[in-house]
Amino acid sequence: MVQCPAMTRKILVTSALPYANGHIHLGHLVEYIQTDIWVRFQKLIGNDCLFICADDTHGTAIMIRAKTEGKKEEDIIASMHSAHLADFTNFDIQFDHYGSTNCPENKALCGEIWTAIRKAGLVEEKEIEQLYDTEAKTFLADRFVKGICPKCRKSGQYGDNCESCGAHYEPTELIEPVSTLTGTVPVIQKAKHLFVNIDAEHAFLDQWVHSGALQSEIENYLAGQFLGEPLHPWDISRPAPYFGFEIPDSPGNYWYVWFDAPTGYMAATWEWCRKQADGTSPLNSDRQRFDDWWRNPQPEIHHFIGKDITYFHTLFWPAMLKVSGFTLPKKVHIHGFLTVNGEKMSKSRGTFILASTYLKHLDPAYLRYYYASKLSNKVDDIDLSFEEFESKVNADLVGNVVNLASRTAKFVAQGQGAAVCSGLAAHYPEDGGLFAQAAAAGKEIADAYETGDYSKAMRLIMECGRRASKFIEESAPWAVKDNPVKLQNICTIGLNLFRQMVIYLSPVLPKLKMQTEELLNCKLDHWNDAAEPLSGTPVNTYKHLMTRIDKTAAEKMMTDSKQNETGTGGMHLPSTGKDTDECLKAEPLVEQKISIDDFTKVDLRIARIIEASEVKEAKKLLRLKLSLGGDTVLNVFAGIKAAYEPEKLVGRLVVCVANLEPRQMKFGLSEGMVVAAGSGGPEVFLLAPDDGAKPGMRLH
Ligand code: 2FM
Ligand code: ZN
Repeated sequence: MVQCPAMTRKILVTSALPYANGHIHLGHLVEYIQTDIWVRFQKLIGNDCLFICADDTHGTAIMIRAKTEGKKEEDIIASMHSAHLADFTNFDIQFDHYGSTNCPENKALCGEIWTAIRKAGLVEEKEIEQLYDTEAKTFLADRFVKGICPKCRKSGQYGDNCESCGAHYEPTELIEPVSTLTGTVPVIQKAKHLFVNIDAEHAFLDQWVHSGALQSEIENYLAGQFLGEPLHPWDISRPAPYFGFEIPDSPGNYWYVWFDAPTGYMAATWEWCRKQADGTSPLNSDRQRFDDWWRNPQPEIHHFIGKDITYFHTLFWPAMLKVSGFTLPKKVHIHGFLTVNGEKMSKSRGTFILASTYLKHLDPAYLRYYYASKLSNKVDDIDLSFEEFESKVNADLVGNVVNLASRTAKFVAQGQGAAVCSGLAAHYPEDGGLFAQAAAAGKEIADAYETGDYSKAMRLIMECGRRASKFIEESAPWAVKDNPVKLQNICTIGLNLFRQMVIYLSPVLPKLKMQTEELLNCKLDHWNDAAEPLSGTPVNTYKHLMTRIDKTAAEKMMTDSKQNETGTGGMHLPSTGKDTDECLKAEPLVEQKISIDDFTKVDLRIARIIEASEVKEAKKLLRLKLSLGGDTVLNVFAGIKAAYEPEKLVGRLVVCVANLEPRQMKFGLSEGMVVAAGSGGPEVFLLAPDDGAKPGMRLH
């Protein structure tokens, strides 16, 4: 049996705020479904849980859109707010409050945080060079300029980072930049910006990053890539014209959208508090209620985000909160990107699918279940393979869960033609331990939900289902209609095992839960209901709970999406994963004499492994991400799979060749080499630098 929490936890949960300039697509939905499941689970086990979200409304993109469409920004925001909410509601994503960053509460909170940052002496003014579009008469945000990556020379890259090699850079570093607004070549222009000296909080961030708030791969990434050296001051202002909040003590300058986006989590909480306030006493003021969440160490704050916005949420945001005395996040849950049929979502392939397009063809419950079956607490990308989607939904949801009810309810349902007896047996019959076994599994299933390992939870639930289905198969209720007592007992067991699974699945499948409540005349509002069987209660007429996926639906949906020209909204686009057909060849070990001059050309450096993963399709390779300190990160493929488990490598210092010409391999770009000794296979040994060596140090 699963225990209720001994003490009710007070938990505030957020999903990343979607931009107000684009519609919700299947990539976004990974996160909203992931968060909604977690929130529903918390509520089901009795915690006091609040799910907050809002539209992220400020920035250049929306301003440009308003200009292009001849509308006011506020009008776009209002219509997108309704469209987003409709999509979320249709996918059963149930926020306690869905606000907007363009609200007075947000402005006030930004002001409060800003004052604290100023007071701490962290703001400095600097003149910087920026790309300026003389035709559009605006400075160009990173995403409004494209050009050639200064590092790997790949064309078509945005102004902030390269999708091909992962390098971060300034837009002014792009080679042959072009404005995406007008297609003109931007000029470099100077402007005054305000910077926050985030390095003043370095020691705090060092501690917070390792406080248990982050997945270990994220901890390593931050430690390896950012915290190993001083943090760059954060450019927090944008000169007019900019759609956002003007900085009160710096007229003509606006807070950068990433300053007032996370504060939107707080502003939406405040709005929710206002909705709750009864107004009868000053003690119940909305601000006080708000402070109970955000200026109180008691509640747990959990953010769910995609990996692309990690450093905003794990460096800038905790620093902002800490300096201004607000509650720090207890946990930032970070997920990977979505690929569809193994590839980046693409409009031309019809795999860039909007939530509203999906809904025209398929039941949202299918996607909720499929995502749950793929999500773990790791940062790995997840793939929506339509073949797997169809087989999982049909086999698990219809074959393993719903069939339990459809094959039994009709024999015991009031007023149903096939009914031989009425309702569940007066006492729960002997079932060979099936109910008790599933009740005992509840603890492990609950732990899996709590830790975000939904794929494990789904696997455990389906195991209960397989045992139950076997029981029904062997008991064959349809063959014992002449023995009403036996029939009623079999159906009572089948329906109870079904009910138990529906409770376990209810965070994922809230509609199925409601349909089951109606069928079995009972409320299923608490996890612990799965520990006690139902008996002696009436059963209502069985109505179809879920149907198998129509084989052609996914095809039709993709065809429909191919015609869809709507913008992306710019968030959570999957990583590129571009491969060439070039074959990967193992590096031969060559022994030959070289001159000292040749040797000094080799740039040997200390590096820290910040990510390591298996290349599934390759026999020998691991994919490594090496940090050389600062922003310098190399992707390297190393033939050490037989000798090392990737998880154990993360965080380790190695020696690498840092100036190898990048090579496009079958599985991606390799930009260096780790130095190892040995004869190959399991006999490979990475060279390990002594303590004290730091990423980036050159070998002499
Ligand atoms: O990446 C994005 O889509 C942003 N709109 C997320 C903002 S999350 C939070 F900080 F507001
Ligand atoms: Zn590049």
